[in-house]
Amino acid sequence: MESEDIEAIKRLIEKTLHIRCQNYKDAYIRRRLLSRMRSSGCDSFNTYLKYLRENPAEFELLRNALTINVTEFYRDPEVFDLVHREIFPAILKNRGRIRLWCAGCSSGEEAYTFAILLAETLGINNIRNATIYATDIDEVVLARAKEGVYEERALSKVPDALVRKHLARREDGLWEVRPHLRSIIRFSRHDLMTGEPIARFLDMVSCRNVTIYFTEAQKNDLTRLFHQSLSPGGFYLMGKTEYLSREVEQLFRTYNSIQKVFVRSG
Ligand SMILES: C[S@@+](CC[C@H](N)C(=O)[O-])C[C@H]1O[C@@H](n2cnc3c(N)ncnc32)[C@H](O)[C@@H]1O
Repeated sequence: MESEDIEAIKRLIEKTLHIRCQNYKDAYIRRRLLSRMRSSGCDSFNTYLKYLRENPAEFELLRNALTINVTEFYRDPEVFDLVHREIFPAILKNRGRIRLWCAGCSSGEEAYTFAILLAETLGINNIRNATIYATDIDEVVLARAKEGVYEERALSKVPDALVRKHLARREDGLWEVRPHLRSIIRFSRHDLMTGEPIARFLDMVSCRNVTIYFTEAQKNDLTRLFHQSLSPGGFYLMGKTEYLSREVEQLFRTYNSIQKVFVRSG
């Protein structure tokens, strides 16, 4: 039976990849499995189950497929603490306003986390001194980002007082971001591989956990694109496991090597 095969695949995923399938909606897992099945030429969940057992290398591809849009509020809280404590105040001191690009924003959690911190730094009444350009290649996740409605568990890392101040609980138990956060975010579809900047003279670019499928050459082009999009002295945030390659590292100096924060040099 199809559902039994899916359950068996989920058990394999948990055992081999240590990804907890219960954290995802069933429809999401199913969509991702179907995508991997198409790519590997399997015409049923049962065939894919056998394929997985016989081809251990498929697990890594499945991991990538499952985590492609994964995101959360305050993902890696230490990075956001650093942004709140040091980076936003430094930018505001110099310029009096902030323009940032959240590239590969998925369903919006990262962009709204920045918006919450900006509201805290500037005060809700002055939040219009900030603009966040939030882009992604995937229209489906962008539609969710624009909606700005999240389950309570998505907010587990956000301090309670901030949740109540910046989101509102709806009758159905979901949480909706408040209008002041929406007012500063411009969501749009943008493919980072095109090399087109979304804006110039930005104060910060955050591109975290996006380049999993990019080749080294594409990653380097992306670093050049961000260099071009930032003002001198502008900040560049990468994902915790990402790094600047030798070829492009001279474009930035390191601000915090553990949190992967860099500053445009020159
Ligand atoms: C794992 S999510 C990361 C979300 C968020 N930045 C974070 O760290 O939580 C990666 C996102 O990058 C997007 N993405 C992948 N390739 C892209 C491209 N070429 N241009 C723009 N977005 C891309 C995916 O659609 C996905 O939503």
